[in-house]
Amino acid sequence: MATRAATRKIPRTSPDAAGLSDLVGLQGLTGAQLRALLGATREMADHPGKYANLLAGRIIGNLFFEDSTRTRTSFSVAAQRLGAGLVDVMGATSSVKKGETLIDTARNVEAMGVAALVVRARQSGAAELIARAVACPVINAGDGRHEHPTQGLLDAYTISQSFDRLDGFDLKDLKVAIVGDVAASRVARSAIAALTTLGARVVCVGPPALCPKGLGALGVAVSHDLDALLRTLDVVMMLRIQFERYAEGAPGNGEPIRRSPIAGVREYREMYALTPSRAARLKERAIVMHPGPINRGIELDAEVADGPRSVILKQVANGVSVRMAVLKMLAGSSA
Ligand code: NCD
Repeated sequence: MATRAATRKIPRTSPDAAGLSDLVGLQGLTGAQLRALLGATREMADHPGKYANLLAGRIIGNLFFEDSTRTRTSFSVAAQRLGAGLVDVMGATSSVKKGETLIDTARNVEAMGVAALVVRARQSGAAELIARAVACPVINAGDGRHEHPTQGLLDAYTISQSFDRLDGFDLKDLKVAIVGDVAASRVARSAIAALTTLGARVVCVGPPALCPKGLGALGVAVSHDLDALLRTLDVVMMLRIQFERYAEGAPGNGEPIRRSPIAGVREYREMYALTPSRAARLKERAIVMHPGPINRGIELDAEVADGPRSVILKQVANGVSVRMAVLKMLAGSSA
């Protein structure tokens, strides 16, 4: 396929666009940019009806090359709440020519005249690649192990809401543990970028295979001992072990060999599951988060997921406001 020079993009000119032309990741965004995005989210949450026709006549393209329930539905609801139409393109990407296929698909959907593309893909870096190949705004809805910026924003918003920090989104004095499969987690990468920039202290917790010391380069502490930390935490963000990301090549029968990153579920739970007895040792005001999908009974017990500390469904609700804000910023001012 002929390569094309990177499309030059001009940042949207609306005063609240945070100077962004795409939203590929949160790493590298300034505190001011994050606050602009979170402030726009608060506006959407407070006055959802005010923007019901903002994107009337425009169409948002959802390009989902990897499974999703929450994120795709959330972008669809957000687009419709802004009056936009929506096209959903879904496809698996097992071909060796994945990069080409993704770009081709994106360019085709763009050629039909969409106002923005929302992209989810298995390959880390895919969103950036597509953003360079098309002129319309691209919003990363999760690319491999890289980033999931709207999730990171909804996490930062939900923490701000829970600790009365919605004026200014200053997360100083809050200690957040991200527990579990941090190594494979784009959710963790985006959350770390947002939360550390907004002033929170972040500690990643898990066995060395899932939580290597090298994560320290992201500006976080790393611990392998959840019990020792519990009484110091304000926020506990639990992550699913992403078993599907540990495939190692393909043997003769075409089935990938899956290598589990943990010795066993029982051993894992003994050290790292958030059980009712561990939850009882948290600070009184501490909250429990999870990006979903939850593997109940592995990383998080049902009693905690559905208990009084859980803000998991608030995260989901806030996700719609975040995506409305991002769509408004990127697709609302491009005409
Ligand atoms: C996650 C994802 O797909 O990145 N979920 C989400 O988008 N809320 C996390 C996961 O799959 O475990």
